[in-house]
Parts: sequence; structure tokens; C-alpha cells
Amino acid sequence: MPTIAVTRERRAGETRVAAVPETVRKLIAQGFAVTIEAGAGTAASYADADYAAAGATLAKTAKDALAKADILFKVRAPEPDEIAAIKPGTLVVATLNPYVDKAALAGLAKAKASAFAMEFVPRITRAQVMDVLSSQANLAGYRAVIEGAEAYGRAMPMMMTAAGTIAAAKVFIMGVGVAGLQAIATARRLGAVVTATDVRPATKEQVESLGAKFLAVEDEEFKNAQTAGGYAKEMSPEYQVKQAELVSTHIAKQDMVITTALIPGRPAPKLVSAAQVASMKPGSVIVDLAIEQGGNVVGAKLGEVAVTKNGVKILGVANLPGRIAADASALYARNLVAFAGLFLDKEGKFAPDYEDEILKAALVTRGGAVVHPNLKS
Ligand code: NAI
Repeated sequence: MPTIAVTRERRAGETRVAAVPETVRKLIAQGFAVTIEAGAGTAASYADADYAAAGATLAKTAKDALAKADILFKVRAPEPDEIAAIKPGTLVVATLNPYVDKAALAGLAKAKASAFAMEFVPRITRAQVMDVLSSQANLAGYRAVIEGAEAYGRAMPMMMTAAGTIAAAKVFIMGVGVAGLQAIATARRLGAVVTATDVRPATKEQVESLGAKFLAVEDEEFKNAQTAGGYAKEMSPEYQVKQAELVSTHIAKQDMVITTALIPGRPAPKLVSAAQVASMKPGSVIVDLAIEQGGNVVGAKLGEVAVTKNGVKILGVANLPGRIAADASALYARNLVAFAGLFLDKEGKFAPDYEDEILKAALVTRGGAVVHPNLKS
């Protein structure tokens, strides 16, 4: 019976875990055995006893957990102490951040692991259930609004009280992918007046269907800004100037701006300038969800709340899904259950098919080498 090890996340601030008791049960039903490093779920509020009750074996250390493992499940790339305990041929499944985290990639190759980067799973229909980018971005979008509302010294909804009326907060969402759509929905639920912008024309209808107003320069370039894969293209400097002009007057009137704009394989586009930040009212809040990819907002700092001279708070919260760790872990863990299904053949035997489109796209190291075409140096 193939054994899956789940070790405790070791990166600072990483509260998530790659399996929860519910997914342990599912994995066992699929024919796997599961070993959990003691304490792996603690930060996400999953107790060792609940893993044991679900049928997992508990191991004292990562080394013990990995000793008999055929597969390792993680949220982030394994750390050197874990890599040292990986047997050659172990399948490693995690968000490896392979363009950036070259040390982990090299370590996994050296350990002769077959490592899969979950962020490389293609966005095809069959793989939707394994799409960790979507499952985590959705929660990040929700959490960004909650963080913003917490930092905002006023109420989000309009309130009519005997002592007078409180106006609804005006919230502007920049970038309407998975995270942005959830941010719109969350801000609307809290009662804010919501507007949103994106460079992909398909988003206009999505924004409006959520009850928010769409704002963008809708020229010829905008009409062609979506790639065949459904992603944004980097816009021309001319478009960016027009876009900045349009949003400038708008931003000055907003109470909260939430930015989520990303372009695959490129640094995040700078969408909010220092002058635009300076135009906002004291007490306004900006949440930069793209901060881990370089940020959309001038002055945003990773892991910090920057307060500008004019009293605007810019939140550069790191790892937003980690702030909703129980749910983020549960969704991530379900994504991995679906992915693990690809390691079994039709009869349920452990036989990963390296020719499978999804496994092939996600495989980054195998047999001692980095094998992904985008990562070979
Ligand atoms: P993302 O995280 O790569 O980018 C976030 C948003 O930023 C995108 O909507 C993008 O258009 C926008 N953006 C980029 N540059 C901008 C600029 N200068 N100004 C304003 N906005 C800008 O995107 P995400 O969330 O990964 O989604 C991308 C697309 O993929 C969407 O159409 C989404 O619906 C689709 N998708 C498809 C899936 C599937 O078929 N399985 C699963 C998930 C998403």
C-alpha cells in the first residue's frame, strides 16, 4: 500500500497543512496509507487525535514520517531537514514556487525525488478540482477584505441610527481574477459600494453580475487583452497612462482599494502610484494582494502596514490564505486528494503515469535532474 507522509510546515508564518482529517479518510479510501508528523495540523486547528481517528499513523518527527513514505504532501517546498530524509524516487507534491525557490528545486533533484509543483497544474476542466491557485486565491480575496475592514476605522455598510447616518464604504478592486471576484463578493456582503477594474474585457460582465460597477479604458487594446489561456497580457505604456488617468480621480474618492493584478511569469504591474496614494483621504486603506509578486502599489511592503504621511494605511499582508488556515488547508488538501488519484491506475494500483497531461505539466524534478522545460538552465 503506497504511503503518503504529511510533515509540518517549517517556513515562518506558514500555518497551513497539506492534509486534514477529512482528506486522510478520503486518501485511505483510495488505497493509500497516511503518516502525519505530530503537530502538523496544530496551527490550522487540526488536532493529532483527529488525524489518528481518521486512520492516520502519527510520526514523532519528519524523518520518521518520511522513512517509509512513497509520497510527501506539503504546502510549501520541503526544507533541507526534510529533503535529507526523502528516499530516492519519493513523489513530492507541494507549491514549490520553482521559478524563485531554486534551492529547494536543486535539493529535490539531488534527493532524486519526483517533485510536482502544484502551481503548474494546467487549468483544464479535468484539473479544476486540483487547482490550488484558485482554491487559495479565492480565500485570499475574501481575507483581504476582512483585513482591510479591520484596519479601516469606519464601518463598511451604511447604517441609519438615531445618532445619524453612517455612509457605506467605497471599495475599489483592481484586478478581477479569482481573488478579485471573491473580494468584490465579500465587500458587497459587508455592505460596501464596490467598483472594479481589469484589463480583460471578459471581467466586465462578471463584475456587473456581482452587483459592482466596472471601470476601465475600453479601447482596441483592451478588447484584445486576454490571452487564449484566459490570462492578462502586459499592457502597453500608452494604455497604462490612460488607465492611470481614468483611475486617478476614482481612487481619490475611495475609502478602500484592494489590488490583485498579476501577469503570469512577470512581476506584478504597478497600478497605484505614490501620487494616487497621496490623493486618498486620511484613514483610507489599501490592501496589496500582489505583494508577494512585487506588489501593485508604490510604498507597499511585504509583511508590513505602511502608513503614509497623509494617514493612508497600505497593507502588505504576507500569505493571506495562511490567515484562514483551517479552510485554506481543507481546500488545498482536497486539491491534493484529487491529484493523488493520478498516481493510481484504473485498478487502483500505485502506478503514476508520467505521460498523463497533468502530471507531465506539474513534474519539475525526476531521477536526479530538473526536468521541467521552463526550469532547465
Ligand atoms: P491572475 O492571478 O493571473 O491575475 C489577477 C487579475 O489581474 C486578472 O484578472 C488579470 O486580468 C488582472 N490584471 C493583470 N494586469 C492588470 C492591470 N494592468 N490592470 C488591472 N488588472 C490587471 O488571474 P487568475 O485569478 O489566476 O485568473 C485568470 C483567469 O483564469 C480568469 O479568467 C479566471 O477566470 C481563469 N481561470 C480559469 C480556470 C480554469 O479554467 N480551470 C481556473 C481559475 C481561473
